Amino acid sequence: MRGMKLVALLSALLLVLAACGGGDDGGSDTTAADGSTEETTGGGGGGGGEGGLIGVAMPTQTSERWIADGNSVKEGLEELGYEVDLQFGNDDIPTQTQQIDSMITSGAQLLIIAAIDGTALTAQLDAAAAEGIPVVSYDRLIRDSENVDFYVTFDNYKVGVQQATALLVGLGLLNADGSEGDATGPFNIELFAGSLDDNNAFFFWNGAIDTLQPYFDDGTLVVPSGQMDIEQAAILRWQQETAQRRMEDLLTAAYSGGTEIDGVLSPYDGLSRGIITALQNAGYSTPDFPVVTGQDAEIASVKLIVDELQQSTIFKDTRKLAAQAVTASQAYLAGNEPEANDTETYENGVKVVPSYLLESDIVYADNITALLVDSGYWTQEEVDSGQAAEG
Ligand code: BGC
Repeated sequence: MRGMKLVALLSALLLVLAACGGGDDGGSDTTAADGSTEETTGGGGGGGGEGGLIGVAMPTQTSERWIADGNSVKEGLEELGYEVDLQFGNDDIPTQTQQIDSMITSGAQLLIIAAIDGTALTAQLDAAAAEGIPVVSYDRLIRDSENVDFYVTFDNYKVGVQQATALLVGLGLLNADGSEGDATGPFNIELFAGSLDDNNAFFFWNGAIDTLQPYFDDGTLVVPSGQMDIEQAAILRWQQETAQRRMEDLLTAAYSGGTEIDGVLSPYDGLSRGIITALQNAGYSTPDFPVVTGQDAEIASVKLIVDELQQSTIFKDTRKLAAQAVTASQAYLAGNEPEANDTETYENGVKVVPSYLLESDIVYADNITALLVDSGYWTQEEVDSGQAAEG
């Protein structure tokens, strides 16, 4: 990741220098009192980029994907000569709403928002609409507002299908090519879902459950805890510690007396790490470790896949999503409509939001190199160490 970032940074720097005629307008980098990071980089003379100011609101820095998303969007826009106000909301709704309010009062010409709580931004979106500021919903759909102009995301239902498919492959019920596997079961599994204030959580869940349902119906898959509703499986704000606690509780309640767990459907790598810790603490170890899925190809989890503790993750190339957000923004700022490839799926409670959906891939131990290293998403050194290189 580091190489890509450097190249992008260098070209952004060259652009800035060209725009300033070599002048010094490097911008600022401050950490606010609440711990959120503010980055406002001047794109040209007079304190503003030629293209104007764009506000980019990301939900948190606790998960590395959002940092990568934020930086990629920022770099892409700066390369086009825009000034970018990039903010991370610390998973705290008031922090994010304040950040967006301040982007609007600072004169942002467009907003790109990955919401913490998709239902909590109506007032901000009303204010943006009153100023004629287009809003691009990033990765997570903003709900209950007619003032969401466009949505860039992955095919979230399909991500859920991929997570369930990976689980079935791990259990031996399917082969990686989709054909029927040799295993017959029955297998004991438990189900986790994401945060219920994130619209994506429902898409991941529905894709996964639709895929697993035939196996529940014929008794091949059993959920010993009986917790099969999304409300029971959900983890508020996608917190690793909450997932670990829930897994510990499930093991205590439903797996005493020799009952063993064979697999866990987990919709995000951070949750998977909590689940894996709980399983290890309960005495599970390789090579008979339960099959645990994931999402995001976070580097610590990629290493866990190499170490055979996590079975799979879903790779969503955040660089492609960021590029799509930049393309959509460019269209609006040129007075055009961005190109959508889905105008049916994402109903936000008020209207169907035109969307551009990207594809994702299942990562197993044997395709880490092909998907993650060869594409430059992670280096081999990062995979080996389980840590992202600095910078
Ligand atoms: C994103 C996932 C991510 C999750 C937790 C979801 O909205 O689509 O990629 O794993 O949030 O950050």
